[in-house]
Amino acid sequence: MKFGSKAYEYALMELSRRRGRSKYEYEKRIADIEDRIPEIARLRSELASTSIKLSKVILARNSNTRELIEQMADENLAMQENINNLLIENGYSPDYIKYQYHCDLCEDSGYHNGVRCSCFNTLLKNFSSKELSGASHIKLSSFETFNLGYYSDSFNEDLGIVPRKKMEEILHYCEKYADEFSTESKSICMSGQTGVGKTHLSLSIAKVVISKGFNVIYGSSQDLLRDVEREHFGKSNDDKDALGSLLGCDLLIMDDLGTEFESSFYNSVIYNIINSRLNRGLPTIISTNLSLSELESRYSDRVVSRLMVYDFLRFVGSDIRQIKRFK
Ligand SMILES: Nc1ncnc2c1ncn2[C@@H]1O[C@H](COP(=O)(O)OP(=O)(O)O)[C@@H](O)[C@H]1O
Ligand SMILES: [Mg+2]
Ligand SMILES: [Zn+2]
Repeated sequence: MKFGSKAYEYALMELSRRRGRSKYEYEKRIADIEDRIPEIARLRSELASTSIKLSKVILARNSNTRELIEQMADENLAMQENINNLLIENGYSPDYIKYQYHCDLCEDSGYHNGVRCSCFNTLLKNFSSKELSGASHIKLSSFETFNLGYYSDSFNEDLGIVPRKKMEEILHYCEKYADEFSTESKSICMSGQTGVGKTHLSLSIAKVVISKGFNVIYGSSQDLLRDVEREHFGKSNDDKDALGSLLGCDLLIMDDLGTEFESSFYNSVIYNIINSRLNRGLPTIISTNLSLSELESRYSDRVVSRLMVYDFLRFVGSDIRQIKRFK
């Protein structure tokens, strides 16, 4: 599962759809009006011919060029006013035959003064969210469906805790985290055996954070790293910025750290992601089946030492996937 990378493509497609739609609707309104009010059709074609007349006047270089131009400008204005009056008389607003953009700022190009327009950013956010919510897992994973009944309520001698109590704390921590989420939120490391709810709770957080309009990328470390690798070695056939979006999204959820293929390239990307996001102060949620000592033996000190500033949530319990299967 990998989300967020297609958002750019979808956003561009939507902008292009908007431009096409504006043009189509504009032409339809014009045709409709010219059909209903033939005088407007006549005035509009006369207006269209003035630019040709104008260039003729300029090319002729007569002594009275300036007067002629001024006269034409006056006539133009008069015709415009005529059209407006005809529209009003027939119950239309003069704006009815103006070109209407979805976004006036960038005229649906997606860029304004050389930077991404806010309409484009909104699309990117929405599409990232849509990709995520389109996945079946997230539909089932929410705080509401997180059942504490799956965790034992008797004291566990080895761990020195009551699992249900511990998981209740973790659930509340996650609910609060999602509620109060900002791009300055802390980073979290969820650790614990398989099937104890790490993915379930990280997706529950994602759902809430997305609904607030933040840009969230969720993926298994395996999938996320593979995308970066493909991009790095030029095997990617689209021009999305895989690494850039992992480093810059509002919330990155990297699931199952430690299940990816072991390679020095992956290790350096993992370091880059963790380090860059910490430097930028952006929150990351990492989940892993590895214990702290397993993390230490697998990853370099510089990776583990940075993970130490994360809030650690130690999940406990038995494999809920198994419990559900035999119920
Ligand atoms: N507390 C819970 N209540 C209900 N379903 C749960 C709970 N914890 C986990 N599950 C479900 O059990 C399965 C395994 O959980 P998951 O979150 O994937 O575990 P992990 O990521 O820790 O391996 C998923 O289908 C998940 O939705
Ligand atoms: Mg998981
Ligand atoms: Zn715009």
